[in-house]
This record gives sequence, C-alpha cells and structure tokens, in this order.
Amino acid sequence: MIRSHVIGCGAYLPKAVLTNHDLAKRVDTSDDWIVARTGIRERRVAGPGEKTSDLAFEAAHAALAGAGLAADDLDLVVCATTTPDETFPSVATKIQMRLGMTRGAAFDVQAVCSGFIYGLAVADNFIRCGQARTVLLIGAECMTRLLDWNDRTTCVLFGDGAGAVVLKAAKGSGGNEDRGVLNTKLFSDGRLHDMLYVDGGPSSTQTTGHLRMHGKEVFRHAVTNIAASIVASLDHAGLRVADIDWFVPHQANQRILDGTSKKLGIPHEKVVSTVALHGNTSAASVPLALATAVGDGRIKRGDLVLLEAMGGGITWGAALLRW
Ligand code: UT7
Repeated sequence: MIRSHVIGCGAYLPKAVLTNHDLAKRVDTSDDWIVARTGIRERRVAGPGEKTSDLAFEAAHAALAGAGLAADDLDLVVCATTTPDETFPSVATKIQMRLGMTRGAAFDVQAVCSGFIYGLAVADNFIRCGQARTVLLIGAECMTRLLDWNDRTTCVLFGDGAGAVVLKAAKGSGGNEDRGVLNTKLFSDGRLHDMLYVDGGPSSTQTTGHLRMHGKEVFRHAVTNIAASIVASLDHAGLRVADIDWFVPHQANQRILDGTSKKLGIPHEKVVSTVALHGNTSAASVPLALATAVGDGRIKRGDLVLLEAMGGGITWGAALLRW
C-alpha cells in the first residue's frame, strides 16, 4: 500500500504584530475580553504590499529545504487559501513559478479554515492513486484583508500567516503502525452557509467583501462536529484516543480547543496551541501549529498526530498521521 509521508515542513509569519491592546484603541474591546473569550493575545498582519503568495512562498521554501528537495522534484503544488492575491490565477501557480518549478501541476483548494485538512486529503489521494509521488501542500492566508475593522465581533479573531508540508509516496503495510497519512475525513453542510461567510465576491457584488460570522452558533457546532470527525478518523484507523501522541487542532479559539479535548478525553499536555500568538489564520492555522511543534522537538518520528479543522461552508474534518 502507498502511504504519504511528511518529509518536510515549514512556516512563515509576517513581521508586524497586532496586540489586543492595539485593537482596543480601534474598537470597543479590551485585552481582558479577548483573552477570556478566545485565548488570543496577538496576531500577525501582512505588511503593505505583502500578499498571500509572499507568505506561501516563504513557508514552501522552508518546507522544501527541510525535505532536501528541489522544486522540480515536485509533481504537484496544492495551496489551501481563501484569500488569494487575485481571483485568478491560483496562488499555487504563483508558487510554482517562484520556486522555479517547470513541470507538474498546481491549483488552490478553498475550504476556508478547513482548507489544510481538505488539501491534505487531496494530496494524500493523489499520492495513493499514483497520480503524484511528491506534493507540496501549503496553507496560506491574509485573513486581515477580509476584516471589517469596525466589527469588534470578528476583527479581534483573525491573523495572517502560512505553513507548508512536503508529502512523498512510500510503501506501507496498510496497518495503523505505518508512517504517513493513515486517513482523512471530510464533511460539509452547505445549509449552514449564513453562519460564516464573506458578503462579497466576483459574481455577486464584484467586490472582495467582508467576513461575517454568527460566532455563538459556529462555536456550538464546532465542538460537536470536530469531535465527531475525530471519532470517525480514529474508528477507521482502529485506534483509540489514548493512542494519540499530539493533537494539532485548528486554532480558532482556546475555548474550542479545550472543549474538544475535554469531550474526547485528550490530556491538555498533548494539545498543541498557538492561538495566543497567531489568532485564527484559517487554512494556515494547522500547518503553522504543526511546524511549531515539529520545530521545538515535541513531535517526533513515529508519533501519532491528530489534525482537525472547521470553517465556513460549513466545512470540517480530521486527519490522522504517523510522523
Ligand atoms: O475558524 C472558523 C470558525 N470560527 C470559530 O470557531 C469562532 C467561533 N466562535 C467564537 O469563538 C466565539 O463565539 C466568539 C469569540 C466569536 C464570541 O464569544 P462568545 O462568548 O460567543 O461571545 P458572544 O458573541 O456571546 O458575545 C458576548 C458579549 C456580547 O455583548 P452582550 O450582548 O452580552 O452585551 C457581545 O456584543 O460580548 C460582546 N462582544 C465583545 N465585547 C468586547 C463581542 N465581541 C466583543 C469584543 N470585545 N471584541
């Protein structure tokens, strides 16, 4: 059986830090409220002229260097983003060009905050079907460009950043002791469109629009949906919660991370949390958190890693992989 091994990972954050105190000067909010309700203390904001492809390129470059590969070793570039530089072409083709990759294919995946899990499913399926052997998967966002800075219920939540992994085909036994992606589980419910959306777009308003969210409803669905997708992933692999070494969740709100891990019985020490420093970076959040825990030595070869995310659509999903 073919498995998709992660052989490199990288991340990039823009330089400018926006703290809760900075935000309290712009809107009627406070550091106390934001920390108590979300766990977020600061987030990064892309500089003037800095685009999603710029963040994506830096993360991709680091992931390729970590994998010890050249751009033309890649068969496919998949970029999960909801904030492309332009409506088209894709960020992925820009990365292909900037890396100097002269072969293969490149495209974007749009599943908002679930984008990296969706992208991982795409990359893993391309590899397991034999259509690609080596895939660069990026999650990159400039979410701050979609914010209404007068709306305190959303502008305090999001940040910019990028993370990337390189996946490569390798032989496995088919059992859950294999290295690589063990499975991915994707879900969506289009009836919940109005819970989290952008009020503009090329075919509706011909503008970019602003992010709108009914936070309480999203919160309510998040813990239930995320926990169910994790159970589906564990069941499929024949594994138990106790087998998980590291839980790397989507970083939307510390209370959602705590609620999900409590519901499933995942101990606090196994949860990777970067929400305090990154805020919600949508499709970049899982690979940024992953790169943090790999970089500081927490995630080691052979560890069982659980990923999950939920976002606009509503979309959600989970993935299990052995590092
Ligand atoms: O990644 C995609 C998925 N997104 C999410 O997972 C986000 C899910 N939702 C959430 O994280 C939370 O619902 C929020 C953090 C967005 C909001 O927290 P909450 O505990 O659900 O607060 P709330 O919306 O019930 O608001 C409570 C109060 C309200 O005032 P009243 O009506 O009680 O007087 C809000 O107007 O807090 C007020 N409020 C604020 N106060 C200070 C809302 N935003 C702010 C703010 N600063 N920034």
